Amino acid sequence: MKKIVIAIDGYSSCGKSTTAKLVAAELGYAYIDTGAMYRAVTLYFLENHVSFTNPKEIADALANIDITFHYNAKAKRNEVFLNGLNVEDEIRKMYISNQVSEVSVIKEVRRALVAQQQKMGRKRGVVMDGRDIGTAVFPDAEVKIFMTADVDTRARRRQQELLAKKQLENLDTIKQNLEKRDLIDSTRAESPLRRAEDAYLLDTSHMTIDEQVDFVLDKVTTRILDQ
Ligand code: DC
Repeated sequence: MKKIVIAIDGYSSCGKSTTAKLVAAELGYAYIDTGAMYRAVTLYFLENHVSFTNPKEIADALANIDITFHYNAKAKRNEVFLNGLNVEDEIRKMYISNQVSEVSVIKEVRRALVAQQQKMGRKRGVVMDGRDIGTAVFPDAEVKIFMTADVDTRARRRQQELLAKKQLENLDTIKQNLEKRDLIDSTRAESPLRRAEDAYLLDTSHMTIDEQVDFVLDKVTTRILDQ
């Protein structure tokens, strides 16, 4: 069967990665979490005191950053490595969430990561989630989904996720972070978060994970059978 690209974009914490992972597993596709790549760059910038406004420092840093994904069979998840080091847990922490949108607006960062993402998906057979997959990375993706959910639901879900990793965070702090990121992500000059015209809208406020996965698989089946 022909392999396709499934682009899943949307606001922070509306279940994109959980849905994308399960869809990929169901289809035997690769799953690429592009947010993890922006988070890994943010971690590198913070650890190496790279100024977010100095083009020379940014270019030098990007030349020294190598991001890869490896499947951890024991944990049953894809994990992100920054220059050979597993940073999967570190990049999910709040101090990264608080800075990542500022790093994602940097033109040079976006260009470098988009080029790498296009390379990763060139053989197709991928589910990629992020903010600009259906608009900038793979505008020709066969199936595009744009996910949203009300902000209180998203904040509660993110709090549960963090709790599962033994990170205790106040609900208001999480909500403020989500709102701030949504604003920066959707108003930035370079490939802002927006729904591609041909993307299906998926509001997950009142949906279970299974329902979300079924929604996407249904669109995939229709698209593959159409060809
Ligand atoms: O999906 P996430 O919350 O882990 O993403 C973290 C941040 O990375 C998000 O606030 C915006 C940025 N991002 C982006 O600009 N483009 C993408 N394709 C993915 C993420």
